[in-house]
Amino acid sequence: MTHAVAQFAAVLATVLFIFSLYWMNDPKTARHAVVAGVTAMLVAVLATWIQPEIVHHGWVVLAIVAGFIVGVPLSRVPLTAVPQRTALSHAFGGLAAGLVGVAEYYLWLGERSAQLTPFRMSALVAEVILGFLTFTGSLMAAGKLQEVKWIPQRPVTYPGQNVVNIGVLAIAVALGVLIVVHPTAAWSGHAFRAIAGLALLFGVLLIIPIGGADMPTVISILNSYAGLSAVAMGFVLDSKLLVTAGALDGSSGLILSIIMCRAMNRSFSNVLFGAFGTVRKTAAIGEQKEWKQETVEGAAQLLEQASRVVVIPGYGMAVAQAQHKVRELYDQLTKRGVTVQFAIHPVAGRMPGHMNVLLAEANIPYTALVEMDDINPEMPQCDVALVIGANDVVNPAARYAKDTPIYGMPIIDADKAKTVLAIKRSKNPGFAGIDNELYVQDNTWMLFGDAKTVVGDLVKQLAGGGLH
Ligand code: TAP
Repeated sequence: MTHAVAQFAAVLATVLFIFSLYWMNDPKTARHAVVAGVTAMLVAVLATWIQPEIVHHGWVVLAIVAGFIVGVPLSRVPLTAVPQRTALSHAFGGLAAGLVGVAEYYLWLGERSAQLTPFRMSALVAEVILGFLTFTGSLMAAGKLQEVKWIPQRPVTYPGQNVVNIGVLAIAVALGVLIVVHPTAAWSGHAFRAIAGLALLFGVLLIIPIGGADMPTVISILNSYAGLSAVAMGFVLDSKLLVTAGALDGSSGLILSIIMCRAMNRSFSNVLFGAFGTVRKTAAIGEQKEWKQETVEGAAQLLEQASRVVVIPGYGMAVAQAQHKVRELYDQLTKRGVTVQFAIHPVAGRMPGHMNVLLAEANIPYTALVEMDDINPEMPQCDVALVIGANDVVNPAARYAKDTPIYGMPIIDADKAKTVLAIKRSKNPGFAGIDNELYVQDNTWMLFGDAKTVVGDLVKQLAGGGLH
């Protein structure tokens, strides 16, 4: 009976996981997706807990309490820190898979060595390698994104690095093959420990040559490794639920990385082995060109006289938490009959969907959000392109400057609008570290300052109150 209930619960959790991902596709159903995902996880934990094989309920309770202690503070990080938070979750997932793999191996080695079939051993080795490399790789990635002092942000490279990295992985795999063939040999315990150690080392080596700029993509790749290690764990533990959940995790991570790579016009191998960030930073900007400044009054006038305004939000809007002020600006302008749209670049901000989530938080209608490919052909008809804390995603250098890291990345054609208003705090470059000629274009006017303050001032001006 218990077995049948557990089986049914596992099927239910699987279905809920699938729907959760499906509903994530649309902002309207995203909340259902979260509820479905949480319920699925709850059902999965309960389905596992009621298994007759569970001999010590105290450990389960302890694990749940520990999960809450770590999970609740993690859920409270600001949206801009979500990539590193996600990396930490993957690190825990990888660690769990690796530890389960080690425990299963030694358990079987001691008492039930007949269970160590080549298939099980292969799954165990895959689980341990993927789990442990995900653990250290994700910790490094989180540290780089969080700008932890003792982890260098810049890519650390040395001659023959790829050979060393691939060599370490190759030795771990070769030992894995040996252990699959001779699971109970006198040396197999040592070999297994060496595999775990090499996987932990490989995770670190994999991340050090990658610069902070590529970290969100790498985190997504690590997501798929964590998923794959869960699949292997599912085969080891004979749990279909783990196999499906891991496969969903692995494939969604992979698809996300592909989307991100495409949006930046980079290949997978370029992200993993390209040491992004070491590329020479070229001054794409003409040396003598001048930055022209506009006043809030002047900018407000330009905006209210426009018939079409396209807002291009970027990372700076997220850091400034300016989305609610942006909503007020949207209200002021639409009230005057101005058409206001938001041009969403797939990698604006620091994670996929970053801008969509922020704008939705401020209740900006989804219908006003337009994807890059749809808005670009219309940019020449746009009266004012209002760039709020975006830089790389509107940098025309991406079209032609071959020696810059953003070369080939599709951009939002802000430069083609009749007038450009750009809000940022300084003349500093964006994430990729290169200058942006958009800001010194003849039809561009800068509004220097914090995005929230400047947009707030624009709203005050439009509301008729002036600034003081
Ligand atoms: P960035 O190129 O990072 O530019 C953000 C701009 O915002 C900066 O120029 C900064 O200039 C300004 N800023 C920062 N804080 C501000 C504040 N409080 N108020 C006003 N302005 C502020 O951002 P982007 O255009 O969104 O491009 C995203 C970058 O991240 C791309 O290079 C992309 O490839 C990379 N990336 C994104 C992802 C995903 S999935 N989103 C993944 C991997 C990599 P000041 O310092 O002068 O203010």
